[in-house]
Formats: sequence, C-alpha cells, structure tokens
Amino acid sequence: MSYYQHHLFFCLNKRDNGEACCADHDAQAAFDHCKARVKAEGLTGPGGVRINKAGCLDRCAGGPVAVVYPEAVWYTYVDKHDIDEIVESHLKRGQIVERLLLPPNVGR
Ligand code: FES
Repeated sequence: MSYYQHHLFFCLNKRDNGEACCADHDAQAAFDHCKARVKAEGLTGPGGVRINKAGCLDRCAGGPVAVVYPEAVWYTYVDKHDIDEIVESHLKRGQIVERLLLPPNVGR
C-alpha cells in the first residue's frame, strides 16, 4: 500500500516569455482551493490525500493541468467547481471525473 491513497500534483509553472503556462490560468488559486478543501474534508495525512505543487509537467498545451497518482490520471480544469468535483468524486470516492480528463495526446 502506498503512503498516500491519492497524491495530486498541480503544475504552477510560470513563464515570462509569452509561451503557454499553467500560471496563466490561475493555477495557484486552484491549488490553494484544493488544499483547503481537502483539509476541510479531513482527507489529509498518511493513507489519505496529499496535494503538492509541481513545476512544468510538460503538458502545457492542455493547461492548467494536474495529475493524480498512483493512478496517473491527468486532469485539466477551469474553475473551483471543477476542483470540487475532482475532490468529491476522485479523491473521496475513487471515481475518475471523465469530463475533466486531459486528452492523451496533449503535450507541450
Ligand atoms: S506549464 Fe504547466 S504543464 Fe507546462
């Protein structure tokens, strides 16, 4: 069994050269919201959920992106409602949110 049941990484990378980056989509706000939500739901800690910042995950064209391990499920999101759905469905019930899945061929 893994230390965390679910480990979610948010790309927060910011580029100043005009290229696409997740920071342009307010990824920080989504990350902050997710952390607060998971804590409020009592999901944190060993055997539970961990939310971490990440640098570029090299899938910028689909940004903002986040990935859940150990399942390696990649998401894109628009707003806090999408984050809430990922928490409620995937992190609490183990059900992937199909509508938010990042298409498999999306790269940088
Ligand atoms: S900047 Fe977020 S995946 Fe590259």
